[in-house]
Amino acid sequence: MKYLLGIDIGTSGTKTVLFNEHMQQVASHTEEYPMYQPHNGWAEQDPSHWYKAVVDTVKAVAEKAGIDSGAVAAIGLSGQMHGLVMLDKADKILRNAIIWCDQRTEKECRMITELAGAEKLFDITANPALTGFTASKIMWVKNNEPDIYEKCRHILLPKDYIRFMMTGKYATDVSDASGMQLLDVPKRQWSDEILNALSIDRELLGTVYESVEITGYTNKAFSELTGLKEGIPVVAGAGDNAAAAVGTSTVKEGSVFTTIGTSGVVYAHTDKPIIDRKGRVHTFCCAVPGGWHVMGVTQAAGLSLKWFKDNFCKDLFGDDVYKKIDEMAAQAPIGSGRLIYLPYLMGERTPHLDGDCRGVFFGLSASHTRNNLARAVMEGVCFSLCDCKDVLEEMIIPIDNMILCGGGSSGDVWTKIFADTLGLDTYRLGNAQGPAFGAAILAGTGVGLFESVVSASEKFIEPKNVVRYDKEANNTYKKIHGIYKKLYTSLKSNYKELKALP
Ligand code: XUL
Repeated sequence: MKYLLGIDIGTSGTKTVLFNEHMQQVASHTEEYPMYQPHNGWAEQDPSHWYKAVVDTVKAVAEKAGIDSGAVAAIGLSGQMHGLVMLDKADKILRNAIIWCDQRTEKECRMITELAGAEKLFDITANPALTGFTASKIMWVKNNEPDIYEKCRHILLPKDYIRFMMTGKYATDVSDASGMQLLDVPKRQWSDEILNALSIDRELLGTVYESVEITGYTNKAFSELTGLKEGIPVVAGAGDNAAAAVGTSTVKEGSVFTTIGTSGVVYAHTDKPIIDRKGRVHTFCCAVPGGWHVMGVTQAAGLSLKWFKDNFCKDLFGDDVYKKIDEMAAQAPIGSGRLIYLPYLMGERTPHLDGDCRGVFFGLSASHTRNNLARAVMEGVCFSLCDCKDVLEEMIIPIDNMILCGGGSSGDVWTKIFADTLGLDTYRLGNAQGPAFGAAILAGTGVGLFESVVSASEKFIEPKNVVRYDKEANNTYKKIHGIYKKLYTSLKSNYKELKALP
């Protein structure tokens, strides 16, 4: 029997899953690590924490499964997108990684737009300059930490740092590279025009591969740390959303899925790079060779509930804390008793592209309890996902049902709120599916165990259960969503005033 490893380097932790060649889950293990917020709107992580989590989780799944060190046929990587890892000439980490939800780079975005030209940015990178993307983070280090930039010899994304540690290769894949804003997205290669405009040396970047291509083989150091044999092929893999698309069978024109992870994403596969010139949603290459995707992003989806849990639910801590919060939300009525939450804890991408907005509880009353707040957080995240879905429908196709994956999909109450707010029957997948599953399919395809990403994805993935939406609840949610949308418009200028405060 051959085995495949899918490794997802997420924001809250790394999840490693071992599958057999029939894509049945054999063992899974997750290890968490912190996110640092040195200032309001900043977000960093230590890449050495990611690597430790990868080594520990790989060891754990190999031990749980009791397989011998030669049994793994290939490894696929997936990971949080956009994060900036900088290495010096001795391959040492120069600073903490500035990750996807960091919002410090507004000035650099203006600079990128001026240097490259707004229309050119759309034509080549398929997106406007955004605080979340890697290019603005690189420019920030250049502007604010010139000594570090001077020493930098390699720029890598989170999962690609792990690849480097495993194989010694500096490489990335087209889906994750799209989120750097240095890639020619229609042509699927680095853009010299953008690199020259921003004066970023192409030598700093790794080689770009399609997601199923083999980028290198596990080295001695990784083998000694994990007990896996040397020489296991590591395929390029994909950014977490493109990997989740493979892991949810969202691999053909017209297919869509939503994930509620730390971020929330509504994702549609496309056969062409379709661009929203208003920049409200992102257009990136996907993990299916020759395919693209369009996605709307909610910055703080699971992040909102984690924030709520960490600050208001310490008494409930334990293995099933999220289940308890899900049950708390069930105690509050639809609409949370006239309480509306705006999930803008880390600014917002879709549809506002505003790094300065922040979270709001609107309508807070002395009659509200923690239950109302828990439900309002879940509903607010779903309203933001509705905004994403509405833009995709306006641009591409009407959506008539949805697949939901990510941590949020394990909450029964949250999933029902999701179905009712979006007005869509919602299919949930088994626990194993999502980015790590997708990464393992990419690995299996890369070494010829499967014929193609599309056929393997369609063969192995079956939505498990459906949560039907309720028409009456949806009508109520439509009214609340109307107020939710007006709140951002009303507060827009106040957010700027708030930011100007010391
Ligand atoms: C996508 C994005 C997030 C991260 C974290 O553009 O920033 O979804 O990939 O999961």
